[in-house]
Amino acid sequence: MPHQPKKEMPTSVKGMHDVLPEDFTYLERVIKEAKRVSEFYGCSQIATPHLEKTELFVRPLGDTSDVVEKQMYNLRTRGGDRLSLRPEATVSVMRAYHENGMQSLPQPVKLFSAGAFFRHENPQAGRFREFHQANIEIIGDDDAISDALVIRIFVSTLQSLGLKDIIININTLGDKQDRVVYRKELVAYYRKHIDMLCKDCKRRIKENPLRLLDCKVPGCGALKDGAPPMVDYLGEFSKKHFAEVLEYLDEISIPYFLDSHLVRGLDYYGRTIFEVFPSDADGENPPALGGGGRYDDLSEMMWGKRVPAVGSAMGVERVVDLMKKKGLKPRSDTKPKIFLIQLGPAAKKKSLILLEELRKIGVPIAQSLSKDSLRSQLNIVHKLGIPVAVILGQKEALDGTVGVRNMETGVQETLPFEKFIGTIKARLKEFS
Ligand code: HAM
Repeated sequence: MPHQPKKEMPTSVKGMHDVLPEDFTYLERVIKEAKRVSEFYGCSQIATPHLEKTELFVRPLGDTSDVVEKQMYNLRTRGGDRLSLRPEATVSVMRAYHENGMQSLPQPVKLFSAGAFFRHENPQAGRFREFHQANIEIIGDDDAISDALVIRIFVSTLQSLGLKDIIININTLGDKQDRVVYRKELVAYYRKHIDMLCKDCKRRIKENPLRLLDCKVPGCGALKDGAPPMVDYLGEFSKKHFAEVLEYLDEISIPYFLDSHLVRGLDYYGRTIFEVFPSDADGENPPALGGGGRYDDLSEMMWGKRVPAVGSAMGVERVVDLMKKKGLKPRSDTKPKIFLIQLGPAAKKKSLILLEELRKIGVPIAQSLSKDSLRSQLNIVHKLGIPVAVILGQKEALDGTVGVRNMETGVQETLPFEKFIGTIKARLKEFS
């Protein structure tokens, strides 16, 4: 036989992966919990498109930021438009706020959103090219209580997922005027140590000095401790605002670490910024579970009108990873506690009616309708560890009854179909 060249099997794109059923339950659980908590605190849900005009991101995130310089997935349409896959949510949500006249709603407008985001980063543990975030944005409010509320929602979500030991690294970047003075001081300090800086930082000193504080190269990192702290350069207003944020956090007993050299990778921030970590995180630069802060100047920069705002984004994969490390299971409300066993052609037909009746009253049920033998269906019941089997055989199908077997005790009873539907919800409570 002639030699057949080996066919390259198409695979997924580097840094992007399938979310398989087991992981999906985790992912969904985290997003659902974030949504549930945020709704309690008055957020409504919004979804923005995955593709946006490139220009939407360039200025707000910073044209010298890593995200804009190296990580955006940019494309050009046939008509010549420059578009980008969204690398984050905040700017899009602010765009949607303006484009949809949300300024006329009672302020602040509190919005929750979740979905996939794209950054062309070096894939490694906890860092992907397609990942999910759950976002909160509180738009149209200056009050420090909104900063505290955003952090409250983040921490409460983690707590109700079972992640109790959390620490917030927090800082303030002051307002625009404060930063002008601070930048000068920072540049003066780093210029004294210019020979010790990496190539990127030599560039940052001219382009974006605040980023010097974010460099992970050991030599530059060591200089950070001696750098002037932002807190020494705050104006009265920023100082008071930050003190209030911290007072609120104290009041609700959320532990924080004042990191006076904390900066964020995106340019739109001013005043409060924070990142969230597990308190037992180890290693030099543990990945943050999420982060956020105030972006009071973003609206003016892009839409010409000052609209103060604050928000956060939770890295869903990182939270899932931590849940797994801690042995926390995604409690699933929809995990079936009943399995339908059907035997014979008449029962198979009736089983479709039974399933639909249960769906209508919100009782999840597992089944394997394509299997015909009792043994193979029982095997699945055992494998899934389902406590109740509903048996619909030829006789039951003719009588209008079902058999209900407690798989733990082996006790089986026969019930008229209507009685079964009417009582099953209450009976299942025994198995929760
Ligand atoms: P960010 O710090 O760029 O902030 O991202 C927030 C979180 O998303 C990170 O802390 C991390 O958990 C997760 N994340 C970021 N990049 C990746 C990646 N490549 N792979 C996996 N997870 C990742 C923002 O995006 C801001 N928009 C947050 C915000 C909202 N600020 C105000 N409102």
